Amino acid sequence: MDHEKPVALGADHGGWALKEAVKQHLLEQGIPVEDFGCYSEESVDYPDMAVPPCEAVLAGKCRCALLFCGTGVGISMAANKIKGIRACCCSDAFSARYTRLHNDANALCMGGRVVGPGLACQLVDEFLNTGFEGGRHTARVAKLTSLEAR
Ligand code: RB5
Repeated sequence: MDHEKPVALGADHGGWALKEAVKQHLLEQGIPVEDFGCYSEESVDYPDMAVPPCEAVLAGKCRCALLFCGTGVGISMAANKIKGIRACCCSDAFSARYTRLHNDANALCMGGRVVGPGLACQLVDEFLNTGFEGGRHTARVAKLTSLEAR
C-alpha cells in the first residue's frame, strides 16, 4: 500500500456514524482520507456506496478502501463483486491483520451496528499497518483473481 495516498471511505446510513469516527481517528494521525459518503443518516443503498471508493482504489488514487454499512456484510458483498477488489468484512483484530498478510486485502468492511468505534479504529490500525506477506500467498491471491473470470 502506498502510504502517501489517501484512504478511501464509503458508507451507507447504517455505517455513517462509524465512518465518521474512523475518519476522525485517521485525520488525528495525519492520515489523508477521501470521503465518498454518505454524509448523513439519510437512507442510501450500500451497493451504490461501495463503488466510488473501490474505483478510486483500482484507479490508484487511494491506497485502500474502508467501507461501512449496518453489518459490514452487504457493503463487503458489493465490493467483492468489483473486479480487483479483495474486501474483508471484519470484527476482530486477528482477521484485520491476516487479511492483509495472506489475502492482500484492499478493502476493510465493518458494521456500524456490530462494532463500536474503539474496536473499529483498532481494526483499521491493524489493516493499515500490515503488509502483504507474499511468498506462498502470492499464487493463492492470483487464484482469487482468476475466479473473477467465472
Ligand atoms: C441497511 O438497513 C442495512 O441493511 C445495511 O446497512 C447493511 O447492514 C446491509 O448489509
